[in-house]
Amino acid sequence: MDTTYAQLLDGKNLAKRIQTQLQEQIKPLPAKIGRPPGLAVVMVGDNPASATYVRNKERACAKVGIASFGRHFPANTSQAELEEAIAILNQDQRVDGILLQLPLPEHLDSVSLLHQIHPDKDVDGLHPMNLGKLLRGETGLRSCTPAGVMRLLEEYQIDLQGKSAVVVGRSILVGKPLALMLLEANATVTIAHSRSQNLPDLTRSADILIAAVGRPQMITADMVKPSAVVIDVGINRVTDSSGKFRLVGDVHFDSVREVAQSITPVPGGVGPMTVTMLLQNTVLSYATTNSLSLP
Ligand SMILES: NC(=O)c1ccc[n+]([C@@H]2O[C@H](COP(=O)([O-])OP(=O)(O)OC[C@H]3O[C@@H](n4cnc5c(N)ncnc54)[C@H](OP(=O)(O)O)[C@@H]3O)[C@@H](O)[C@H]2O)c1
Repeated sequence: MDTTYAQLLDGKNLAKRIQTQLQEQIKPLPAKIGRPPGLAVVMVGDNPASATYVRNKERACAKVGIASFGRHFPANTSQAELEEAIAILNQDQRVDGILLQLPLPEHLDSVSLLHQIHPDKDVDGLHPMNLGKLLRGETGLRSCTPAGVMRLLEEYQIDLQGKSAVVVGRSILVGKPLALMLLEANATVTIAHSRSQNLPDLTRSADILIAAVGRPQMITADMVKPSAVVIDVGINRVTDSSGKFRLVGDVHFDSVREVAQSITPVPGGVGPMTVTMLLQNTVLSYATTNSLSLP
């Protein structure tokens, strides 16, 4: 019997289309407003993964017409110096969005720094004001990765209403805000974490299964309900048998694609959507500051 494979939820392609739309939207605005939208990515130290993410974000900005005001600080920068830098960016009228690239070196208090970012420029949606708005179901800047997952589900017309959604992972960056967004879309939501008992029983109950754990390929086919929609947020660097690095998700893609109805690949699934939501949030913040109503 032929094996049937799950439908691929192609984040790369969708991200490309949204970025083209953003580019068209942005094109006439600098002439009208006097400046393009601006994003400042603040990076501290030389974490190679962070450096790659920052480069990708700045490249994506350049492509759609967003100006970058990135600041790269040495690893030994003090809390006070970063607070000062964020205060300056908060006041800078060319900057619509500020993103603090995480993780930070250990001597720094990232939560306190995230609180310093003005909520209107908090394009990563991590300020308590924006997280509070999400909790209340009010509009506001939404965390990019969860927003990207929701946009992908919407694109593929995945029905969430009344469906069982299980989110594995409860970080403030992904799991918690995503669970709230799924709840807002009327899914019945379960959040699993490292202390959850009988994880395979929980994951097998999911119509929509989201893995945001950071453990390579931990979700295997026996943990997935046949015909589930599987969203793999994980990005893990592993070494293959030839000694080369490659990226894998938290889902064992090759076995799960034989069981699931739909699945996101890694790379090319959630990752490109995260960057795109960052661009979209920057444009949203620019539009709000300049009282523009964009389509
Ligand atoms: N695609 C993207 O754009 C994107 C964006 C952000 C992150 N990511 C990736 O997504 C993954 C998760 O990121 P994160 O920032 O949310 O990570 P995190 O802050 O480390 O959180 C991981 C979560 O997984 C839970 N967990 C750990 N081991 C588990 C286990 N054996 N069973 C069940 N739950 C377990 C943890 O539970 P406890 O709370 O109990 O410790 C925690 O809630 C990482 O691979 C990261 O690289 C991707």
